[in-house]
Amino acid sequence: MDTAADDSCRPKEISVTKITIRNNGSIRIEGDDFTVYDAEGNAFDLAGRTAISLCRCGQSENKPFCDSTHKLCGFSSEVKARKLDPIVPAPVPPPIAS
Ligand code: FES
Repeated sequence: MDTAADDSCRPKEISVTKITIRNNGSIRIEGDDFTVYDAEGNAFDLAGRTAISLCRCGQSENKPFCDSTHKLCGFSSEVKARKLDPIVPAPVPPPIAS
């Protein structure tokens, strides 16, 4: 009897990106499949990193990445996960009279 594992029926492992808002610090992004873009849609070359920290205090010399300056500038922000309000659809503007 063949005891070798048959992986063909096993569900593929789903890649999950974890984003953590650190108290008094950065936004940590961890995962195998995420991309950070600038405002023009250009991707940062993360050189294979699977974890990065984005600055949340606004004081980093290496924005958008955290350089730990938050520890020196007294940045204070503690957050707890919460449920957001439901999405409110944008009002539809009235038709333009001609
Ligand atoms: S959050 Fe770390 S330098 Fe801004």
